Order: sequence, then C-alpha cells, then structure tokens
Amino acid sequence: MNQAIILAGGHGKRMKADIPKPMLQILDIPMLGWVIRACKEAGTEKICVVTGYKAEYIEHYLNGKYDTALQSERLGTGHAVMQAEKFLSENKDGNTLVLCGDAPFMDAETISSALELHTAQNNAVTVITAELEKPYGYGRIVRSETDGIAAIVEEKDASSAQKKIKEVNSGAYWFRTADLIELLSKLTPQNAQGEYYLTDTIKLAIESGRRAGVYLTENTDVILGANTRKDLLMLREKARKNILEKHMENGVDFICTEGVVIGTDVEIEAGTVIQPNTILKGRTKIAGGCNIGPNCVIENTVIGERCMLNAVQAYDSVIENNVKIGPFVHIRPNSHIKSGVKIGDFVEVKNSVIGEQTSVAHLTYVGDSDVGKKVNFGCGTVTVNYDGVSKQRCEIGDNCFIGCNTNLIAPVKLGTGVYTAAGSTITKDVPDYALAVERGQLKVREGYSLRKLKDRLFSGDKEKK
Ligand code: UD1
Ligand code: CA
Repeated sequence: MNQAIILAGGHGKRMKADIPKPMLQILDIPMLGWVIRACKEAGTEKICVVTGYKAEYIEHYLNGKYDTALQSERLGTGHAVMQAEKFLSENKDGNTLVLCGDAPFMDAETISSALELHTAQNNAVTVITAELEKPYGYGRIVRSETDGIAAIVEEKDASSAQKKIKEVNSGAYWFRTADLIELLSKLTPQNAQGEYYLTDTIKLAIESGRRAGVYLTENTDVILGANTRKDLLMLREKARKNILEKHMENGVDFICTEGVVIGTDVEIEAGTVIQPNTILKGRTKIAGGCNIGPNCVIENTVIGERCMLNAVQAYDSVIENNVKIGPFVHIRPNSHIKSGVKIGDFVEVKNSVIGEQTSVAHLTYVGDSDVGKKVNFGCGTVTVNYDGVSKQRCEIGDNCFIGCNTNLIAPVKLGTGVYTAAGSTITKDVPDYALAVERGQLKVREGYSLRKLKDRLFSGDKEKK
C-alpha cells in the first residue's frame, strides 16, 4: 500500500499566527488541504497528519477523515515522522510519502513520477529535489560520484562549498515503508540544531547498503513554502493567477482580474463573464452565458444559464436559469431561486423557495418561505418568520400580488392569486383569489394643520416657540 505522512506541526512564529501554519489559507482552503488533495490525486491510499502546535485546529479540519499523530515536542522532522510509528507499522508493505503541510504546490504529477522512479530504481528512499537560483535556507543535495545522492546537508551544517550547491531538498520523499521504520530508529540529534533530521536517513540508507535516489523536478513551485505573511501573499497570488488562467483556457471571460478570486473547486462554463471584485468559493458551479459581478461573493452555490448577478452575496443555494439578481442582495443558505426570477435591490432571501418568474423587486425579506410562480412582492414586504422562540414558514401561492409593506406573520398561507392590501399585517390564512386588507380606517380631519401651525404658516420666518 502507498500512503502519506504530512508534517503539520509547525507554528509559523514569523507570521504571528495563532493557528497552525498549515491551516493558513491559499485561496479558499488551508495549505494542508492543498497537500492532502495532491496526495489523493496521486492515489495514496492512507494519510496520517503529524500535528503539534494547536493540534485541535487540524483535528477539527480533518474531521476524523485521516489518521493523526501528535508530536508534543518539536525535536525535528525525523522526530515528527517517528510519532507516526503506529501508522507505519500497520502497513509495512509498500511505500510512504513524507511531505510538508506548508508547501501547498506539491502536485500529484510530481508525486506520481517520483514514485515511478522510486520503484523502478528499487530505492529505499527517493528525494524530490529542484534547482533554485537562491538555495539559501534549504537542505542541499550532495551528489555522489556516480550522479546519485550522497547526503542532504542543512544550511546550518553546510560548508561554504556545500552552500553553493543549487539543488535543494523539497522536503518531500518516497520511502520504502519497512526501510523508513528501520532508518528512523537509527537517527540521532548530532547536528547544529540538535534535532532529529529526517534528511539524515539518506546517509544512513547508503551506509547500510540500500539505494537512495533523487527525483529532480522542473516544477520549482513544489518547493515553495511560506515563512512570512509576504511569502503567503505571494503564494496566494500565484495560485489565484493559475486558476484564472485555467478558466480563461476554458472560455470564461474576464473584464479584468482586479479583485477576482476563484476557489480551487469552482466550475464555470464557457461564455460566462466575470466582472471585477468577484469572489467565488467552495463548490460553486456556474453555467454558461452568465454575467457575474461586479462585487459578488458566491459560495457553494449552483447557478444556471444566462443569469445576471450584480453586487450579490449568495451562499449554499441553487439559482436556476435566466435569473436576474441585484444590486445589493443577500441570498442566504438553503434558498432555491427558480428560473426567470427577478430579485432587485436590498432584498434578503433565506431558506426559501422562490417559484418561476416571481418578482421580488425591492426592500424585502423572504425567510423560511415557499413562494409560488409569478408572484409579485411589493416594496417592503416582510415575512415575519421568527417570534423570538421558533421559526415558522410562510406559504405564498402562484400569482399572488403582495401589496407594499405587507407583513406576513408565520405560520401563514396565502392561496392562489391572493391580493394583500398595502400596509396589511396578515395573521391568518387567506383563501384562493381573495383580497386581504388589514389596516385602520383612514380618518381625515380637515383644516387640522391650519389650526395647529397657524403662527408658523402665516407669520413669515418667525422662530417656532
Ligand atoms: C526541511 C528539510 C530541508 C528542506 C526543507 C524544505 C530537514 C532537517 N530539513 O528544513 O532539507 O530543504 O525542509 O522546506 O528535514 N516539522 C514538524 N516537527 C518538527 C520540525 C518540523 O512537524 O519537529 C514540520 C514543519 O511544521 C514543516 C516541516 O516539518 O511542515 C518542515 O520543517 P521546517 O522546520 O520548515 O524544516 P526546514 O528546517 O525548513
Ligand atoms: Ca521550511
């Protein structure tokens, strides 16, 4: 079995972060999520994450889906892998990939190609390396005379000649699992940092007559990690550009890319236009012919063909075809907006179904409601769904016409084709085709203000008393 151990115990002191460093996000998922995805895409069957600083954050994120091992003292990368001893001993056959949870661009292709070489050469360990113009800080690859690897030397332990080596250790390796277990038991902390270096396994493997190999990748991004907030921003910018390029290749149209951030799992069909300041996250899917933005935030929402969303926030919802929404609209979770609906400015919809061709044009709250087709909401309608204790639903039949400033006190049902008079507060069900009026009789007292304001109305600019 081929499996992976991801080292994620780091703190990220220089970031001044109060969460584990691998939990910092690149676009819409943590760096750790990027690494897990690469492992899965490359076909590793089991994953164990080694935690350390604030392990509970990582446990919460993994939600029991993967094994974890806690490293309670930070004694080096070799020591971190030792903590996964139980995981390793459960599957001694096959190979184990060890990699860092804070190098998010390690990709499935590199992992798979390195494994191919690892097995073809029958290596005990294969190090994934790259050549960098500025190798400072990384472990250097000391080659053997036969072009194989002799050792990895850390920056702090390197001689000035070794510091000139440009080939560096990515921090990712394939090990034959049984060999890894044995090599770990031989590690000692005799080095400049007094740590158990995982990198010492190379020398130890060779000394014990095993083969160690190198997979030199052209894709130097796989090495990139983040030690500072500036590094993190650089990684985000790189990821953002790569994703935008992928969508452009698929025929998505960008007016410009300012403020456009698209998550890793978002799908967009050809012919859709994305306007500036639009953030698309999670499992959002957008069909063709749409115009999204400017100024939208859309998360976990499925959008049909030819929709127009302008200054909309939408979460965990479904929007069908030919829907026009915005500006300044909030679509909250579990809403289903059917085809041909129009939702205008300052409208909030939550946990509701809005039927085909219904219009909610302005200043309205529709919460916990089932709304039929071709309903017209007057300005200022409120579904009063919460009494301070529990939430109840409103049901509004097809072809209803809700007068301006109607309050619908849930639970309440309007039948088919019901009219409500403007300003009514509806507390009881209304049968099909009825008009519901609930408001005081209008009283008119003629000449009232003439009497009340006579001083002001007829004495020029005199101050009011
Ligand atoms: C390590 C490698 C170096 C390589 C570099 C690539 C060693 C000794 N050196 O160096 O050759 O070029 O990665 O980025 O392995 N970690 C733990 N527990 C520990 C120490 C580290 O979980 O006790 C984790 C970190 O959170 C991180 C990873 O291991 O995810 C690498 O640790 P880091 O301290 O960044 O290693 P480097 O010194 O940079
Ligand atoms: Ca590092």
